Amino acid sequence: MHEPDYDVAGKTAIVTGASQGIGKAIAETLAASGANVAICSRAQERVDPVAEAIEEDAAGSALAVECNVRERAQVEAFVEATVEEFGGVDVLVNNAGGEFVAPFEDISPNGWNAILDLNLTGTVHCTQVAGEVMREDDGGHVVNLSSVNGQHAAPGESHYGAAKAAIIRLTETLAVEWADDGIRVNCVAPGLIQTPGVAETLGIDSEEMPPREQADRRIGHTEEIADVVQFLVSPAASFMTGETVTVKGVPKPGNSMSDGLGLE
Ligand SMILES: NC(=O)c1ccc[n+]([C@@H]2O[C@H](COP(=O)([O-])OP(=O)(O)OC[C@H]3O[C@@H](n4cnc5c(N)ncnc54)[C@H](OP(=O)(O)O)[C@@H]3O)[C@@H](O)[C@H]2O)c1
Repeated sequence: MHEPDYDVAGKTAIVTGASQGIGKAIAETLAASGANVAICSRAQERVDPVAEAIEEDAAGSALAVECNVRERAQVEAFVEATVEEFGGVDVLVNNAGGEFVAPFEDISPNGWNAILDLNLTGTVHCTQVAGEVMREDDGGHVVNLSSVNGQHAAPGESHYGAAKAAIIRLTETLAVEWADDGIRVNCVAPGLIQTPGVAETLGIDSEEMPPREQADRRIGHTEEIADVVQFLVSPAASFMTGETVTVKGVPKPGNSMSDGLGLE
């Protein structure tokens, strides 16, 4: 009988933006399954506790590094530290990202550049630098975080939507360009997920989260994204590359992420 293989034990995974939210859940999930994780955020003191908890509770080890993904030199140092600690890179999860909500006409050139830099150029920096290590070794996996806002229009999200849409096309292009290097490149497009970032930018904070079993009309749990990422970087997804997996349940009426989806 065939059994699906979701094994990531012994792999080395870089997860960017892992001090909280979805990135933290991805790092914890992969580490719980035995992967060694190298995690970063812009502040060492915010990412250290995540690594300490992983070291204490998970099967895998953790390395925490202060790294702003918008800064190429910091990304190079982060990847170098990962290779030094764990001997290579098998998985890169480009999770660091964020936004502010504003009508297009009110977005300043600085605001526009900040969102494109963080979400798109940060992904480019990490993918080029970590990708070079994977291409020189035996290949690996890249998972990019897009958003339903990269797939459908939503008011106030022109900068973020443009960056997240570009990430989907970048995923498709790299899947083709790096196929011969043994690198699978996929993307996850979450709907509304309860994270500190969402609480801050959209003012949505569900203290009592509905259970995962309730598939419709609710906000998502961070682990529901992490589980899909683990699938994508596991042998079970061996015939998937260049894909964007949408993970959104059925959005709750009134959620800004569901605006423009025509579901209300
Ligand atoms: N939550 C959702 O509903 C949702 C939906 C669709 C897509 N997404 C995407 O999923 C990803 C995670 O979202 P989230 O809601 O978990 O975000 P979040 O709660 O705001 O957390 C963002 C993480 O990224 C880090 N970060 C921010 N800027 C960084 C930079 N320049 N360099 C390195 N790290 C940086 C933050 O750490 P520091 O502040 O310590 O640097 C934090 O760990 C993002 O790409 C987001 O666009 C989220």
